[in-house]
Amino acid sequence: MSIAICPGSFDPITLGHLNIVRRTSRIFDEVVVCIMHNAMKPNPMFTMEEKVEMARLVTRRYPNVRVDWSDGLLAEYVKQYPGAVIVKGLRAASDFEYEFQMNLINKKVNPELETMFLTSSEKYTFLSSSVVREMAFYGADLTGLVPEEIKDEIMEKAKHWRAK
Ligand code: PNS
Repeated sequence: MSIAICPGSFDPITLGHLNIVRRTSRIFDEVVVCIMHNAMKPNPMFTMEEKVEMARLVTRRYPNVRVDWSDGLLAEYVKQYPGAVIVKGLRAASDFEYEFQMNLINKKVNPELETMFLTSSEKYTFLSSSVVREMAFYGADLTGLVPEEIKDEIMEKAKHWRAK
């Protein structure tokens, strides 16, 4: 059985992420979306529990996709799924540089590990969780950026951030 791990900080999950997850679910038998910490993004807007809950809500339509989380190293996490492949989305050349470095670090920890990249759909090349957070912070409409089911939760959270 082929297994893909789609890791990310998903703060919050966007339509761009979901597009990659959906396309990955057509290629692999099973997909595990793994929510993790990104040390370079130390102040997340959402807690791990909130991120997991949102990701579960928006991926429940895909029967071979499940959501998990880890506060450890990705290369260690993947060891529980022998033969699994990491799948990440690439939006632009700037993503490539970072992802290439991550891939090499992961391979140092776990030499067996393979990473594959799916190029982002054109309509989502501009989209990132940080764009969503910023739009939400200013009260802008998130239609077309995040799944409808989680729009209200993101706007509500942004309201509290504004009040801080
Ligand atoms: O969505 P992101 O922020 O680009 O995802 C990055 C993420 C969470 C996949 C990456 O930071 C990660 O793998 N975090 C887990 C800890 C780890 O293994 N770091 C890489 C070695 S320094």
